[in-house]
Amino acid sequence: MKRAFVVGYPISHSRSPLIHGFWLKELGIQGSYERIAVEPAAFETFVRTLAEQGFVGGNVTVPHKEAAFRLASVDDPVARDLEAVNTLWFEGSQLKGMNTDVTGFLANLDQEAPGWSAGMKQAVVLGAGGASRAILYGLLQRGAERILLINRTLERAEALARHFGTKVTALAWDQAETALAGAELVVNTTSLGMKGQPPLDLDLSRLPKSALVTDIVYVPLETPLLAAARQARLATVDGLGMLLHQAVPGFERWFGARPEVTPQLRALVLADI
Ligand code: ATR
Repeated sequence: MKRAFVVGYPISHSRSPLIHGFWLKELGIQGSYERIAVEPAAFETFVRTLAEQGFVGGNVTVPHKEAAFRLASVDDPVARDLEAVNTLWFEGSQLKGMNTDVTGFLANLDQEAPGWSAGMKQAVVLGAGGASRAILYGLLQRGAERILLINRTLERAEALARHFGTKVTALAWDQAETALAGAELVVNTTSLGMKGQPPLDLDLSRLPKSALVTDIVYVPLETPLLAAARQARLATVDGLGMLLHQAVPGFERWFGARPEVTPQLRALVLADI
């Protein structure tokens, strides 16, 4: 029986066990996927004893992604750029690490809004944390010509813009509504709109009618931003698919079968939100 894990601190909120448990059952694989809480001070020991505990690999979440990057052998260019690893697996005795946030983000849009990136000229990204960095990476990979990066703390947006070069321009929060004019895509990567947080309150009237609006927040599934976009008859993609798609590459490496993101899986996770 193959054992995999998700490690974080805290970890009780993680829906990954539900996702991998569904796939294990659906594909008839003898395996387990366990939720493990490990304090930062104990993380290195946890990683160094994975093989002797019989683990084939697992997921890493907050606050361990940067430590996992330092402890694993990383060929994945995305993880190298983000300096963060969310998926670990063994190749022989070597512990490898990758980051699946970018493929998760892109695969969700590909599945829900096919053709979304064709000829993409301008995108607006709100937020400048770790999630934003992964999304900027993905949008540039897909050929975005110009990204307007808006953050409450302008200095953080400026630092990220410098990291990615001239295609990314940092703007202050009060520029958000002006920035929407001419954007084909809007992505919220801030925690605004999440259950218990204030809503992301944006006037979307300047957005072109063909624009796509997406949020990485998925609790609730329809955030105030997505509700406003839908009311304005704009296309929307919710954030749940990113969570589901980012889980695919890990499962495939640990258990040797490529799982699918199906409506049944979405419904199962949705029932837990
Ligand atoms: P993650 O790794 O999920 O991106 P993070 O690094 O904590 O998390 O980043 C959270 C993002 O949400 C940041 O862009 C943060 O803005 P600041 O850089 O100014 O802190 C944004 N954010 C959180 N609460 C916010 C609020 N009340 N108003 C505006 N932005 C907010």
